Amino acid sequence: MNSAPTSVLGSSFSLPCGLMLRNRIVKAAMSDSMGDGTGRPTDEQVRLYERWEEGGAALSIIGEVQIGPGHPEKPGNLVLDASADEAAMRRLAASASSGGRLWPQLGHAGAMSFPPISEPVGPSALDLPGVRCTALSLDEVRELPARFARSAALAKAFGFSGVELHAAHGFLLSQFLSPLFNRRTDAYGGSIEKRGRLVTEVLEAVRSEVGSAFAVGVKINATDELEGGFTEADSLAVIGRLGAAGADLIDISGGTYFPGAASASDRVSSGAYYADVSRRARDVTDVPLMLTGGIKTRAEAERLVESGTADLVGLARTMVLDPWLPQSWTTGSGSDPTFPRFDDPPPGGVTAWFTMQFDSIAAGGSPSNEWTAASALREYEARDAERVVRWNARHRGRPSTADRR
Ligand SMILES: Cc1cc2nc3c(=O)[nH]c(=O)nc-3n(C[C@H](O)[C@H](O)[C@H](O)COP(=O)(O)O)c2cc1C
Repeated sequence: MNSAPTSVLGSSFSLPCGLMLRNRIVKAAMSDSMGDGTGRPTDEQVRLYERWEEGGAALSIIGEVQIGPGHPEKPGNLVLDASADEAAMRRLAASASSGGRLWPQLGHAGAMSFPPISEPVGPSALDLPGVRCTALSLDEVRELPARFARSAALAKAFGFSGVELHAAHGFLLSQFLSPLFNRRTDAYGGSIEKRGRLVTEVLEAVRSEVGSAFAVGVKINATDELEGGFTEADSLAVIGRLGAAGADLIDISGGTYFPGAASASDRVSSGAYYADVSRRARDVTDVPLMLTGGIKTRAEAERLVESGTADLVGLARTMVLDPWLPQSWTTGSGSDPTFPRFDDPPPGGVTAWFTMQFDSIAAGGSPSNEWTAASALREYEARDAERVVRWNARHRGRPSTADRR
């Protein structure tokens, strides 16, 4: 069947590096919690990305692929360093082989590294309820661009067509951007130029390592939604510098996975949350823009692309509810998925509910109704407790830690 696209969402799009995307719909980065508990991909995880590939996404981004085992977000993360399982990584990369693209999102969780398997570090020392970390030394900060670049080189060698650098949602690069996390007085703290320096240095190092024909995106917050934190004006100042540093794509989202803070994936409101910042970003950069957060209907996705607000739409939860959605939306047909309603979910419960759906999707099914937000969170945490043991045994030479917070 070769029906011509009748929706702007079905039109192809080329990134500055030359990579062609088959349409405008991107499966946004989601931490899928499907690694084997030691940072290696599983067969089930390969099947998950095959589903989104078959579903027609132009690009899928694998959330939270760590540049090393020291500071992961969760024990289900992948690790892309010299210890990576090359054969399994190549199988994962090959899951996008019929026209879609697959990129790992390279990250370091920083102050929000998962305590049972790490010793959290951030731009500055913090001791707050739920977040405690020591400060990175200047030498450790200066090593980060090369570490990201080595991971990106491996992604390229293993067959991925690009990477996204994770500078959003409160993880390490995003912590450097935020005056709440970053109180440094050296070259990496203070004005937004200095707070943004690490992100641009990482991007420049990655670009110089992978060359001009490999895609490099950056995910950045429009705002971290925290009082006294990273603002829209800050965000636009950083966005304005990403083109010269080598970005092919800027993925604008927002919110922070910080205890008690608003995260975009737990929000119930609809409408593209950060469309205003994306529109204003056009004045400060020529780099293609992807907008992620709150896009739940085809009509809205079409409006965003037609109006030039964004070149690509990033969908996270919507692509969990209907992994095959790009097939219909790109031809101007298909209904919009119905979002589940959660009554008084526990913090993190909504995101856990979406995470627990990945098993059914990988198996070729639809999202399951068996979970509530609370039961999904319990199951998710129990599964991670088992993986903590494996992660520590492989990466920290010890059986387990019981110091969960
Ligand atoms: C289960 C789940 C896991 C997520 N993990 C990540 C992640 O690893 N990296 C990231 O940048 N964003 C992550 N997000 C945030 C999404 O990429 C997106 O920014 C947010 O959910 C808002 O988009 P939506 O309204 O389309 O869901 C996650 C969201 C969900 C639902």
